[in-house]
Amino acid sequence: MKKVKVAVVGYGHLGKWHCQKVEAHKDVAEFVAIVEKFPAGQEAAKTNHPNVRVVSSVEEIIHEIDAAFVVTPTSTHFELVKYLIENKKNIFCEKPLCSNDSEAKILNELASQHNCFIQVGHSERFHQAWDVLRDQFQNLKPPFSVRINRVAPFKGRATDVDVVQDLAIHDLDLLLHLFKQKPLEIKAQGYKIRTRNWDHVALDIKLDNNCEAQIVIGRNSVKEIRDLEVTSSDGQIMIDLFANKILEASSSQFEDGSFVKEASYPKRDHLLLEHFHFYDSVLKGKPPVIGLKDGVRAVHLVDMALRSLATQSPVKVDLG
Ligand SMILES: NC(=O)c1ccc[n+]([C@@H]2O[C@H](COP(=O)([O-])OP(=O)(O)OC[C@H]3O[C@@H](n4cnc5c(N)ncnc54)[C@H](O)[C@@H]3O)[C@@H](O)[C@H]2O)c1
Repeated sequence: MKKVKVAVVGYGHLGKWHCQKVEAHKDVAEFVAIVEKFPAGQEAAKTNHPNVRVVSSVEEIIHEIDAAFVVTPTSTHFELVKYLIENKKNIFCEKPLCSNDSEAKILNELASQHNCFIQVGHSERFHQAWDVLRDQFQNLKPPFSVRINRVAPFKGRATDVDVVQDLAIHDLDLLLHLFKQKPLEIKAQGYKIRTRNWDHVALDIKLDNNCEAQIVIGRNSVKEIRDLEVTSSDGQIMIDLFANKILEASSSQFEDGSFVKEASYPKRDHLLLEHFHFYDSVLKGKPPVIGLKDGVRAVHLVDMALRSLATQSPVKVDLG
């Protein structure tokens, strides 16, 4: 069977896990190289993957690969993805696709010129809970309110970008993926606490049909919370993405007499699933499970949120 010849670009916190998932797909992926710019990462890569070539730039192996996983800091995604598109490679790019709207526009045009396959790493879409709830959310009668929290104590990671690019990107993508009602306007309020970038931000988002969403993301909070809550006249449903639980309060009592129903859902290896879909799509010529259009739309919402933070006023959204 034909295998996809791959390189992982960036051997940092997440790159290490991507390498592990490439090795877990030996039947469909041939691990050609790890590309890491800095010596410390190169040494770690050589120690952990003695049979894989370790190089310092993607140019060195570009003619030997079919596909690359871009797992470098966000500020480097644009140049790397552009180079990979120009060389007609299949691309997996970690979220966010790139840093802003103008970069996204260029990548979009280039990718359609070169007819390139791009999958974007919006890994939060792989929670098992959405397999059932997405249909329910798509059919939810407006108006409704969505609240999403993604906050944690300071871990010192991804401080080169603000929390909107690093964390809200997940939730903005979920908002687009789970609900029919599209964002119309974003108003953001933020705080720079530990870094030069936004460390804690609240986004108020107006959606179609009088629906609304609030997304709170923070990296200097007193505790870790990752949840999504939807309220409408049918009741409330809350998904605890950290504890993998679904809590529901409907408009009437449940059969056992309780007012709140609680259920667990199994935790899945999101990265493993992303790799599975990537090789499957590339080998079978299928469209990506999460494609360039999704990446571009999420980046647009991030850009509008950052514009609102900069201007301290609501900003209109144009998803085209
Ligand atoms: N999907 C998720 O849930 C999730 C989680 C964490 C990180 N991420 C994303 O993954 C990306 C990487 O994050 P991280 O936490 O691993 O960062 P990191 O800083 O730990 O690792 C990045 C690595 O890339 C290397 N690098 C930088 N420029 C390079 C280049 N041009 N060529 C080769 N190597 C280069 C760095 O030396 C470093 O080792 C970011 O875009 C981040 O947003 C996604």
